Amino acid sequence: MSRYLLGRLIVATVAITVASLRGVTAATPSPGCGKTPTLITDGSATTPLTLTSNGKTRRFYVKLPDDYDNSHPYRLIFALHALGGTAQQVTTGTGGYLPWYGIPDLAANDTVGAVYVAPDGLNNGWANQGGEDVAFLEAVMETVEQDVCVDRDLRFSTGFSYGAAMSYTLACALGRRIRAVAVLSGSPVISGGCAGAGSGASEPVAYYGQHGISDPVLPVAGGREMRDHFVRTNGCDAGRGPPREPARGSGTHVKTVYDGCDPDYPVVWNAFDGDHTPQPVDRGATTTFSAVETWEFFSQFK
Ligand SMILES: *[C@@H]1O[C@H](CO)[C@@H](O)[C@H](O)[C@H]1NC(C)=O
Repeated sequence: MSRYLLGRLIVATVAITVASLRGVTAATPSPGCGKTPTLITDGSATTPLTLTSNGKTRRFYVKLPDDYDNSHPYRLIFALHALGGTAQQVTTGTGGYLPWYGIPDLAANDTVGAVYVAPDGLNNGWANQGGEDVAFLEAVMETVEQDVCVDRDLRFSTGFSYGAAMSYTLACALGRRIRAVAVLSGSPVISGGCAGAGSGASEPVAYYGQHGISDPVLPVAGGREMRDHFVRTNGCDAGRGPPREPARGSGTHVKTVYDGCDPDYPVVWNAFDGDHTPQPVDRGATTTFSAVETWEFFSQFK
């Protein structure tokens, strides 16, 4: 074998080894890995924890996986309530929510598993005055990750309405530190959005957007605007014009998976024939597609 070919072979072997090592060690374990938790218990799903952020006492619930294993890095999934709602409603599936937005039921066979976090907004909303809710959610993240084992490459956020606006804002503020968001009928404005979000707003975040075409509360134009921020930031092909949306009265939803995005940062847009709801149901269907689509989007990242 010539020196040249041998050299090429070694380079190729090294590349394959590095690739497979990355496959094995892709997780970025949080400081809570390998430690016995001192703060978070199974009871934290029903009795909120508190921390002080921006001089205010703030509350959050944490749902650990069954058989929590402190040597295994889990996903961290924020589930944010809407205006007038509470984190407790999200945890129990009352007030119009599915429990934790319906994700744990669908994620039963997920090999990665998840730590779910439901924080309370101020005045039952997420106005994020002066960035205080971003700071709070960062503090929650840090507190949780110090105590339990989380994969820092697998942080997610979802929510409906104000909780969607805040998930979008969190993606703008933290950029790649958030793996993906599912923004259900949100707004680019009410929680601050990407305006003034700093350098994070130029970073890609995998993005699932869902919005009713007849939403009278937070108009679909805002949903398209948030989507288009990540279409641009994730390098997707937007050259073919806006994606198809369902006709009014069709009772359906139309899902668009954007082409050309950075493969690590896909964008999906799901427009439905309906108004302001976290759980749209197609005519003739018995269950919402919302949770299924959210989980399908999140679970592709491992
Ligand atoms: C999990 O796997 C079991 C066994 O294959 C299956 O019966 C069940 O439907 C799965 N659950 C979910 C939520 O996918």
